[in-house]
Amino acid sequence: MFAPDVVIIGAGAAGMLCAVTAAERGRRVLLVDHANKAGKKILMSGGGRCNFTNMYAEPANFTSTNPHFCKSALARYTPWDFIALVSKHEVPYHEKKLGQLFCDNKSKDIQRLLLAECEQAGVELHLDTSVHRIEKAAAGYELATDLGPVAASSLVIATGGLSIPTLGATGFGYEVARQFGHNVLPTRAGLVPFTLSGRLKELCTELSGTSADCVARCNGESFRENLLFTHRGLSGPAILQISSFWRPGDVVEINLLPDRDALEWLQAEQAARPNSDLKTVLSEVFTKKLAALLAEHWFASKPMKQYTPAQLREIADRLGGWQLVPAGTEGYRTAEVTLGGVDTREVSSKTMESLKSPGLYFIGEVLDVQGHLGGFNFQWAWASGHAAAQVV
Ligand code: FDA
Repeated sequence: MFAPDVVIIGAGAAGMLCAVTAAERGRRVLLVDHANKAGKKILMSGGGRCNFTNMYAEPANFTSTNPHFCKSALARYTPWDFIALVSKHEVPYHEKKLGQLFCDNKSKDIQRLLLAECEQAGVELHLDTSVHRIEKAAAGYELATDLGPVAASSLVIATGGLSIPTLGATGFGYEVARQFGHNVLPTRAGLVPFTLSGRLKELCTELSGTSADCVARCNGESFRENLLFTHRGLSGPAILQISSFWRPGDVVEINLLPDRDALEWLQAEQAARPNSDLKTVLSEVFTKKLAALLAEHWFASKPMKQYTPAQLREIADRLGGWQLVPAGTEGYRTAEVTLGGVDTREVSSKTMESLKSPGLYFIGEVLDVQGHLGGFNFQWAWASGHAAAQVV
């Protein structure tokens, strides 16, 4: 029988940071994961360079049904705490933009760092290990696992969300939450590309690989970033960000000319070069391919002087406020996060301990806390893992 002080299920970002911190406090920690590698999402993250935190992380960068929940943990483990760990291991990194810190080399640097810390702190890590049953015992929890029976006073659920099942994601954490009387808020894919249908899809397919600066808006939120046309629809940071606020049927508005008043600009161009084709004018601000396709698809490109004031206004409205209703999203197959999850109103914001079942903790993405794109989700994993580690 394994009898550590703490069992952590899920050796992802939150589970590993929690394990290290608890072990450094002198707790005997058993960390199990059913996958054959720890931190598979870390390895995949940030396009292979892991955007491991954001220097400007603050509660406003997170969404939750209970928006105040994340504040305490984020305040007690800041981006600078994780940066100190990265520096201790001499992992080279850089700011890409907007406070987003990426590895110079590979995401593996972050996974290695966490594994090295686990080893040094004496965490007992078992991969390829499933948990088959969990029961509440007089002094904690008893688990039936591939290792045999395990008993511990603290049980930490760090099994993440549902995104990317091929990386080991399961709904295990939600099942455990329900078993112990917790409410689990409906889940859906977040930070995920949109799929389009009909003519819009054809347009996107033709433009696949082309990107453009934009402001994407939906349900009162807006993000200024790039969008990327794909053969299925739209992706890129602006789209991923706004997807977390979109629900089926909602209109998404995209301003493709975020730096200028579209009408004033078109009027000035019409006056300055009346014989130039619209697509030539548009190629000043878009790639040639995007300019040509937008001009042909939307406005039947012709010399600027041939557009009436009303037509010019129509073009400006379209470019400055392209409205579309996505057919859907690419779903958990490619989503970076899962929205919803364990209801934080039933979890202590200080310790991540269940208010329903003492000794049970939820950390990381399994909780109903999601960060914007840009290193915030890892910061939540680190911060929530650290908060639980102080008391497990
Ligand atoms: P995480 O998913 O990391 O870990 C959960 C662990 O639990 C996994 O190891 C899994 O195998 C294990 N598990 C699941 N079910 C189990 C079961 N039944 N039994 C045992 N173990 C089980 N964020 C960011 O801030 N910067 C970035 O650059 C990126 N990039 C990125 C790229 C891609 C492709 C994805 C999918 C996601 C990102 N993210 C990101 C989001 C980030 O990866 C995510 O929010 C964190 O990994 C969440 O950490 P957790 O530890 O909560 O879950």
